[in-house]
Amino acid sequence: MENIRYDENENKLYIIDQSLLPNEEREILLDTAEQMFDAIKKLKVRGAPAIGICAGYCLYVLSTKINAKNTDDFINQLEKYADYLNSSRPTAVNLSWALRRMTSLAKKNKALPMEEIKRNLLQCARDIHNEDIDMCRRISEHGLTLIKNGDGILTHCNAGPLATSKYGTALGPILLGKERGMEFRVYADETRPLLQGARLTSYELYKAEVDVTLICDNMANTVMKNGWIDAVFVGCDRVAANGDTANKIGTCGVAILAKHYGIPFYVLGPTSTIDLNCKTGADIEIEERDPEEIKKMFYEKPMAPEGVKCFNPAFDVTDAELISGIVTQNGICRPPYSESLTKLFK
Ligand code: MRU
Repeated sequence: MENIRYDENENKLYIIDQSLLPNEEREILLDTAEQMFDAIKKLKVRGAPAIGICAGYCLYVLSTKINAKNTDDFINQLEKYADYLNSSRPTAVNLSWALRRMTSLAKKNKALPMEEIKRNLLQCARDIHNEDIDMCRRISEHGLTLIKNGDGILTHCNAGPLATSKYGTALGPILLGKERGMEFRVYADETRPLLQGARLTSYELYKAEVDVTLICDNMANTVMKNGWIDAVFVGCDRVAANGDTANKIGTCGVAILAKHYGIPFYVLGPTSTIDLNCKTGADIEIEERDPEEIKKMFYEKPMAPEGVKCFNPAFDVTDAELISGIVTQNGICRPPYSESLTKLFK
């Protein structure tokens, strides 16, 4: 099953509801702006590149529902939908990147008949999707040069096919290597509080017959100390111009541990996740989520006193100095990132 599927005959957008995994693989329809907003907010579709791909198709489907007097009115309504979807989650830059790409195209096409603008919007959504498949493949090739057969790799959260289009970013080299007959030992952090590591990473790797071992987040030190880890691979939600990287909460702690043990720590992501408008990690907005996710979600009974205070940031920022390399589709950037990342866009 594809994680994001646009059906042209029906003009309908379907996603695999990731919040139900690994227990149920179910496709759901995203037909209204509210359903789309809810799917992104509640992580039914998640992972920075997948959110961007989904947002492109969402905006196209919504464009076909617009009843406009003229092109100006059409673009105005399209931008309102884009602003609404963009307010669903703040940290992964791919969401605003994809929506801006769609609305900019509509504005550039202003002189064309509305039906033609819509056709071009569909093509743009498809381009975003196909480019991601290509980027993930290239990221996987570059990432594979950093590891060798038999290596132990620790990963945090989920940056596999479900979070992207195909292969994934952090899991891409592992899945590509597996296709080529290589074997890796992967340690997947469970990734509290929403358990993307347990529910999605271990599920994807197990299905692909990769040797995966699930650990709790607080066991990363032990597997590193035991000498079982040769490299850390993680994805990213937004990379600032200086290389500071926002990724799932807990990533920075893993990077600090890796530095302590002299283990290389790599961030893998497409250039659509690099935001040169953010100078440093301090400029990245970090999403704060419902405390109930810590206290109740995935537990049979509440596991904290009802009224207890909680702090639930969904992401943290790993300082550039902790990152050994940023692996993009165009190659591996090394420090100083303010130079190597800028070069990527020239
Ligand atoms: O809150 P999530 O599950 O959307 O967070 C996802 C991550 O942090 C991923 O590591 C990141 O988006 C990269 S996905 C290729």
